[in-house]
Amino acid sequence: MKTILPHNALSLEKSRPGRRGVRFEQAEKHASAYLPEAYLRKSVPKLPELSEFETVRHFTRLSELNYCLDGEFYPLGSCTMKYNPKAYDVLSALPGFANVHPLAPESAVQGTLEALYGLQELLKKVTGLAAFTLQPAAGAHGELTGILTARAYHDARKDFKRTEVIVPDTAHGTNPATAHMAGYTVVNIKSAPDGRVDKEALQQALSDKTAVVMLTVPNTVGLFETDIREIADRVHKAGALFYLDGANFNALAGLVKPADMGADLMHLNVHKSFAAPHGGGGPGAGPVGAAAHVAPFLPKPMVELKNGKYTLSGKMPKSLGKMKAFFGNIAVCLRGYCYLRQFDGQTFRQIAENAVLNANYVRAALKDKFNAFFDCICMHECVLSINPAEMNGVHTSDIAKRLLDYGFYAPTIYFPLIVPEAMMVEPTETESKQMMDAFVDAMEQIYTEIQTEPQTVKDAPHSQCVCRIDEVSAAREPNLRW
Ligand SMILES: Cc1ncc(COP(=O)(O)O)c(C=O)c1O
Repeated sequence: MKTILPHNALSLEKSRPGRRGVRFEQAEKHASAYLPEAYLRKSVPKLPELSEFETVRHFTRLSELNYCLDGEFYPLGSCTMKYNPKAYDVLSALPGFANVHPLAPESAVQGTLEALYGLQELLKKVTGLAAFTLQPAAGAHGELTGILTARAYHDARKDFKRTEVIVPDTAHGTNPATAHMAGYTVVNIKSAPDGRVDKEALQQALSDKTAVVMLTVPNTVGLFETDIREIADRVHKAGALFYLDGANFNALAGLVKPADMGADLMHLNVHKSFAAPHGGGGPGAGPVGAAAHVAPFLPKPMVELKNGKYTLSGKMPKSLGKMKAFFGNIAVCLRGYCYLRQFDGQTFRQIAENAVLNANYVRAALKDKFNAFFDCICMHECVLSINPAEMNGVHTSDIAKRLLDYGFYAPTIYFPLIVPEAMMVEPTETESKQMMDAFVDAMEQIYTEIQTEPQTVKDAPHSQCVCRIDEVSAAREPNLRW
């Protein structure tokens, strides 16, 4: 009887005894001659037995199941996936970098240290801050590093009563989570109707218990604080430190310097702003910069240049210590270094301006159909929303799923929390007008469907290998086996 396997059959189902690719038996014998008898297998491993073609097709098919930036537009607000030059992958994987042993003596890794030093210096230049640590392995890890650095600063001044961290409701979710994890009481303040910090609410929350005020810039509704200097002054007057979450610094680089905005501490996401890939949970890098009065408390060691040699300085008596084994995620930092070297100077301004222009292009094109919640010029991302009562009962999640049928990844949805039925779109600076027009066109077609055949949108996606699932059962009774 013929067995017709579906094209998505498991490799184990396709397996047939003895089937295999090219084999170099002489070489195998030769290799096993070098292995001690005790380490040689006694039986054949239970792996699928496939021809080379079957194996290649299997993995090619798997690689295509995942939506990726190399395939299509990825408008996911807040968790940007932007252009990551492939050349930087090659450069960061050069054997001189990739094969370095983490315990190698400084004299043997001068090239790597030079690149890391260069990154520290370029980050200082683009932010105006006095020092940077490259240790944090992600944005949220950078926040934790920043908050612990702030604590070390207050402790050194014997200012132990500062137990609160103020976080506006437009902050990224990791900000309050970090403050809580570091043992602080989170004081949440509501933002003003224009989506920016309510200065009166901030003033009321500030006290001699405030350790840090954390501000996401641009905030999660894609807006820049118009009165940031005044906010910084109020924070400093209360004796607190001003922390900026600069994960989306691609909207600001070359336009403003955080030091001029009064920042005492700030993290940047190399894997968002400076070209390392983001998504899939990392790895990332979240360097933290500090103003001169806070810099001595940053983690150690840092890379220093002394008498023409790069060296790891552990001589930082006030440092909070180490935040990560060795020197951070070097391969990610190296990509950021390449990017900063390549685009240093005037080009940064153009990058930031393009990020802002692209987000506003999408916002202006869609705001009449998908309410732009804060109808004003935004920064690198725009927040759209809908009222399901006026949309034949269609919800934001339905639109997100329908976009998959049009070949687009969904924007971030239901975030920021302060916007009902939010859709957060971040085109990034590297997408073309044609691509954004195609996205806008898909959104407009979905809008028409909502008016004429809403059920099509409610039942979407129709073209994926897995379509509408029972989300409650999927969460409560997940069936994770084939
Ligand atoms: C504004 C902001 N802050 C913090 C983070 C957290 O960064 P990570 O995911 O690297 O921990 C993100 C994530 O993208 C972010 O957009």
